[in-house]
Amino acid sequence: MSTVDQNHVVVFDTTLRDGEQSPGASMNLDEKIRIAQVLEDMGVDVIEAGFPIASEGDFEAVNEVAKLVKNSTVCGLARATKMDIERCAEAIKPAERKRIHTFISTSPLHMKYKLQMEPEDVFEKVKESVSFARTFTDDVEWSAEDGSRTEREFLARCVEAAIASGAGTINIPDTVGYAMPHEFSDLIGYLFDTVPNIDQAIISVHCHNDLGLAVANSLAAVNAGARQVECTINGLGERAGNAALEEIVMALRTRHDLMPYGTGVVTEDIMKASRLVSAVTGFTVQPNKAIVGKNAFAHESGIHQDGMLKHAETYEIMTPESVGLTQSKLVLGKHSGRHAFKEKLKDLGYGDIGDNAVEVAFKSFKDLADKKKDVFDEDIVALVDDQVMRVNDRLQLVSLEVLCGTKHQPPKSELEMVIDGETKACKSTGDGPVDAAFNAVKELFPHGAKLQLYQVHAVTQGTDAQAEVTVRLEEDGRTVNGQAADTDTMVASTKAYINALNKLLVKREKSAPSALSA
Ligand code: KIV
Ligand code: ZN
Repeated sequence: MSTVDQNHVVVFDTTLRDGEQSPGASMNLDEKIRIAQVLEDMGVDVIEAGFPIASEGDFEAVNEVAKLVKNSTVCGLARATKMDIERCAEAIKPAERKRIHTFISTSPLHMKYKLQMEPEDVFEKVKESVSFARTFTDDVEWSAEDGSRTEREFLARCVEAAIASGAGTINIPDTVGYAMPHEFSDLIGYLFDTVPNIDQAIISVHCHNDLGLAVANSLAAVNAGARQVECTINGLGERAGNAALEEIVMALRTRHDLMPYGTGVVTEDIMKASRLVSAVTGFTVQPNKAIVGKNAFAHESGIHQDGMLKHAETYEIMTPESVGLTQSKLVLGKHSGRHAFKEKLKDLGYGDIGDNAVEVAFKSFKDLADKKKDVFDEDIVALVDDQVMRVNDRLQLVSLEVLCGTKHQPPKSELEMVIDGETKACKSTGDGPVDAAFNAVKELFPHGAKLQLYQVHAVTQGTDAQAEVTVRLEEDGRTVNGQAADTDTMVASTKAYINALNKLLVKREKSAPSALSA
């Protein structure tokens, strides 16, 4: 640990790898690049950009992120095989700072049933894989998958061997989110007490949230000496997700009195990253989610409001500004000009989307302001995410008309779409207006995907509010979420459906990483 500040906690973000492994959270190349850029700008130390052996798409994403990112270390995941490690090394080659993250299961359960290997063979693999990875880069991380359920003595032997073979970071995952905070910190303490060469590595933790303890376990591990935390934006990840980056970082910042450790994360960029990940994946953040939920800084009760007015700290342990929430509730309307709009974009964390994207968004804003008197921050976020994120989609909505109501049975739809550059149109009917619109999409773009979820919610209050629609589709075991917003619920629904289909098209080109997953 000699080259690193003893109180610096390395933030290792795995939104693009473990986060993307959560069902439905697929991201295309452009989206991954945008997220990587935001992560780098916000000061994340290590970006795990993917699992290069998993598919061509994963390889390309890691490779492109490696070309783009200059300040953060770019990391790729690899199992303990030569093929995985070589592919990973190739993908991260262009990076200024590159890391190979290789892993193998060490718990009795995983070794017996998943790997069908004897512990001694696993032990040999640890040494082989780390040594081989070191032939490509000096920065190698080794993970003991299912570490929290591994026999302690065996874990300590593997850790010692991995360090001796050249791993500079040792990661102890709570893969199934089973650990309790005191138990997990005890395990980390045990490794510090037992492994003779432990001072030659940074100890990392990677906690899943199955019992809602991922952040608590990560912080307990930091208290016990861990100096890298693996986490994701919004806690995205398989099953109940990974430890949420924003919660760990804000806990360390807010409780510096108890935990005198720092990260390099620019906390004011947290909301921006959260919104981006939510928009890209279609995973809406629950309103009461810590730090980034819509209600995280809202004070509704009279007693609380009264206290807040007298002194903000009565009920506020951190300021909304510290996570990038703007205080100004400046509402835009149809008379607002380009300048005010650009300022608002900057306030909302979209200052760097480029002139073309600003123009597209400004036009959409003007259209929206014609339909809706007050345009709130939430409207602009929905609009920018909707317009700017979809530029390279293969399927795009051109126009939609739906006729429905008591006099128009069955409901009818007329749809025009661009499919791979070609404009196509059709008419259709359905059991309801949404069904009629979706049937038209199916007619223009036949597919076997099954609708699993159709969900609508209002972005703001009032009957002129934009509808934000989520559509979940499933095809051959692959699940994707599509999202869109519009003041017209039918348009939002159809766009969300088309967005989900675009994501399925990306997924079809990839083999499911879960087949290879940790
Ligand atoms: O959860 C897990 O164990 C992992 C490892 C690959 C680090 O994701
Ligand atoms: Zn994981």
